[in-house]
Amino acid sequence: MEASCTRLFTRAELKTRNKREDAVLIIHNGVYDVSKFLEEHPGGEEVLLEQAGKDATEPFEDVSHSSDARALMQKYKIGELVEEDRTQEKTTTPSWTEDKPQEQGKCVLA
Ligand code: HEM
Repeated sequence: MEASCTRLFTRAELKTRNKREDAVLIIHNGVYDVSKFLEEHPGGEEVLLEQAGKDATEPFEDVSHSSDARALMQKYKIGELVEEDRTQEKTTTPSWTEDKPQEQGKCVLA
């Protein structure tokens, strides 16, 4: 079992992570490293690279990804946004998230 420890990122530091070898997406305040997923993405690598370094929540939802896709993305999750940079998600928390309130400061990574 892995210790529960969430790495926190700011939007500013993710902006430059928009390259093929370091491609990171923000989706629903979660941070995903899709560098190793580019070639496998059924929707193609172009769309992912276009969104890399940015908040891809809207384009991701526009496509109505399947629950399989949503389960798959957890594999690429590397952390979450810091509290200040999160968007207020609307009242309907997607049923597929199992997000629990984050206890910040619980885990300090250099
Ligand atoms: C980690 C993030 C993502 C994962 C794991 C993922 C996974 C998948 C999967 C498994 C499919 C096949 C259909 C399905 O099961 O829903 C798919 C399709 C697709 N994805 Fe993604 N996706 C991600 C992010 C995105 C983003 C950010 C965009 C848009 C900017 C995008 C655009 C598309 C498109 C356009 C298709 C449709 C392909 C088609 O049916 O022709 N995906 N994705």
